Amino acid sequence: MAPTSVRAMSALFRRKAFSTELPVHQQLARTLGWPHLLALGIGAIVGTGIFTLIGVGAGRAGPAVLVSFAVAGAICACAALAYAEMATMIPASGSAYTYSYTVLGEVIAWVVGWSLILEYSLVVATVAVGWSGYASGFLDGVGVHLPEMLRHGPTVVDGAVTAWGLNVPAVFIIFVVAGLLSAGTKESATINTALVVLKLVTLALFVAVALPHVDTANMHPFAPFGYGAANDGTGVKHGVMAASAIIFFAFYGFDAISTAAEEAKNPKRDLAIGIVGSMIACTIIYMGVAFVAVGAMTFSGFAKSPEPLAVILRSIGQDNVATVVAAAAAIALPTVLLAFLYGQSRIFLVMARDGFLPMKLAEVSKRGTPAKITWLTAIFVAVIAGLSPLDLIASLANAGTLCAFIAVAACVLVMRRRAPDMERSFRTPLAWFVCPAAILGCLYLFTSLQPITQISFFVWNGIGLLIYFLYARRKAVLA
Ligand code: ALA
Repeated sequence: MAPTSVRAMSALFRRKAFSTELPVHQQLARTLGWPHLLALGIGAIVGTGIFTLIGVGAGRAGPAVLVSFAVAGAICACAALAYAEMATMIPASGSAYTYSYTVLGEVIAWVVGWSLILEYSLVVATVAVGWSGYASGFLDGVGVHLPEMLRHGPTVVDGAVTAWGLNVPAVFIIFVVAGLLSAGTKESATINTALVVLKLVTLALFVAVALPHVDTANMHPFAPFGYGAANDGTGVKHGVMAASAIIFFAFYGFDAISTAAEEAKNPKRDLAIGIVGSMIACTIIYMGVAFVAVGAMTFSGFAKSPEPLAVILRSIGQDNVATVVAAAAAIALPTVLLAFLYGQSRIFLVMARDGFLPMKLAEVSKRGTPAKITWLTAIFVAVIAGLSPLDLIASLANAGTLCAFIAVAACVLVMRRRAPDMERSFRTPLAWFVCPAAILGCLYLFTSLQPITQISFFVWNGIGLLIYFLYARRKAVLA
């Protein structure tokens, strides 16, 4: 190979140094302790997945959606252990993007960063759209009826727009959360903690009220669509794994904690507590809620509802509790927005510091928050949320997340070989089993996604690589 091609190749895989001192105007304020981080994790995890997508999952797998929850939970648990090791080793804001830049090289980091943008932006958009459904329902209940075209984005049937619209509540809630975040990280974290408690009480109320109505007859047949991810002839995949690929949405969010590394008071200990603790807590809660849901009502009764838990409660004659659950969901769902909008702005921030976005954006305001980038992110996701349907953006968010999880598990394995003696305040147990399990599990979930999602993911990353080769490669600080 000619020396210039060798240089070009090695530039693609150049790596960031392990620790870089930041100039003062780029340093974030360290205000978060482990309870904040744990609450940030649970706040990011428990959201549209369990409140809304449980219906979509049940529609694809039947009562066996319970197995889908278990599979997605197991894969996420493996990924969470890998995240805990990397986050405590490299406590910097950029999460999987930073780990990949430090361990795997620039071009891979770029793909991971580009996929994280997909994950974080689309989660914010998805949850804002999910929230809008609950909020519009609540407004209807108090006699305020929004016009139909201001309740959701354009309706698309067979690739053609049949009705135009703008999801105004979704855009509204994104800007409210952005305002809170730019006011201060500590303030946001305190409000987040209160809302997380509300969310957990709501799910506990659902389980307590619906549990006595569980009837095993509702669980037969258990897996009417089989255990794989088979195409039903209309281009939609059904089966336990197809449901797992969408239910996966419900479990992630623990990764958002790692974006708080530069704001944690004691990142080397507290990030591991936050990541692993929130994952364990949410898996237990989800299995309980899913069991009660499919046991209390035949799955087809709530599969298509935008508020499945409320529908189940109404079907057992608990209309008042249903109203409370729906209202509490509307109040508490924004914690997911808070965590992911926060995470997205931190990832953009680190990409800007690395030279991939204008440096001006990386400046931190007097309140210790990256205000400019927070508002820019909010505008970006508000456009998506205002104009997109829920299921497509949720599964595309999953595709981006799967890519990030694979990269983080790979980073752990590479670092175990490259620097076995480096200090690790958290070590993934059985790493040579857990990390490959995370990688293979994520790959399998990716193959179980809907074909349109897989294609959109590759198109997005194709555009990303084009930008990298034409522009970003030369702008990199490392260049
Ligand atoms: N896990 C988060 C949710 O379900 C993304 O909303």
